[in-house]
Amino acid sequence: MASNGSWGSYPSTRLRRVRRHDWSRRLVAENTLSASDLIWPLFVQEGDAAPSPIASMPGVSRLSIDDAVQAVGKAVELGVPVVALFPATPVELKTDDAREAYNPENLMCRAIRAIKQAHGDAIGVLADVALDPYSSHGQDGLVRDGYVVNDETIEALIAQSKVQVEAGCDIIAPSDMMDGRIGAIRTALDEAGFADVQLMAYAAKYASAFYGPFRDAVGSSANLGTGDKRTYQMNPANTDEAIREVALDLAEGADTVMVKPGMPYLDIVARVKQTFAVPTFAYQVSGEYAMLSAAAERGWLDREKVMLESLLAFKRAGADGVLTYFALEVAELLKRG
Ligand code: PBG
Repeated sequence: MASNGSWGSYPSTRLRRVRRHDWSRRLVAENTLSASDLIWPLFVQEGDAAPSPIASMPGVSRLSIDDAVQAVGKAVELGVPVVALFPATPVELKTDDAREAYNPENLMCRAIRAIKQAHGDAIGVLADVALDPYSSHGQDGLVRDGYVVNDETIEALIAQSKVQVEAGCDIIAPSDMMDGRIGAIRTALDEAGFADVQLMAYAAKYASAFYGPFRDAVGSSANLGTGDKRTYQMNPANTDEAIREVALDLAEGADTVMVKPGMPYLDIVARVKQTFAVPTFAYQVSGEYAMLSAAAERGWLDREKVMLESLLAFKRAGADGVLTYFALEVAELLKRG
């Protein structure tokens, strides 16, 4: 036998054999994508206005609470396990101290209550924790002398977590990247009698340019202006640091961890999953959605195919699930077969 595995002039090993027919390709598939792998991010808006489209995210709109309740009904029918809610807070309610974040009657809390009331435990509701949708400066934390301060911010994040949990959310997902917030929030929730509420830590969250369309959606880009989040979100150059972030969040009580953004960070997803063997999620963020959608709109990419392929790639990297703006569309597609 020659060193290339061939006998005479023909290969004895033919990897193409199992690829020849669809039944065989399905049989040997190492990964699959199902509706149960998806978390659907939804933007909610004040009042009863019609859905307001987000220009940089074709196909995605901000929904009134009533429309959101209906949309979540579709997600339930399709077997999507979790929706993640984000509020487009009216500008007049945004302040330096972001106090609207812990107003128990804020848009977010009213949306959580309405969705839980309509759908109960048929679907989980995830609530992001960070101050940017509520702050006049667009930063995730409190700013003192031009710097986002850590420990004082944590107090506000605890208050925000509590009102969202009291409103009925199932998962608290801190996306702020302050040090020590997972432990502080866990302790506060336990003391308040909410030991069963899950914490999904945005553990390795990078200071990324791929969040642009999201900031349009929640109206924080104008507030943030030319500012950036590099003093708390991670440097895209780093890998080892992601491992330290995840280790700390797990030690502080995170139930599940997330890597964000998604597609450009699959190496991080893979390493986190291999290192910790805990439920690991990835966020296919707004800019990733925008890229694929824009190319598809121009006819340069096949929307359905790239959507499915990109999500399967997360599974292959080791993700247990993906937050994606494609969630509902994909779930529909998977149902149709
Ligand atoms: C808030 C938050 C952001 C995203 C999720 N939670 C924006 C940011 O950190 O600036 C981005 C999600 C997306 O781009 O889809 N801290």
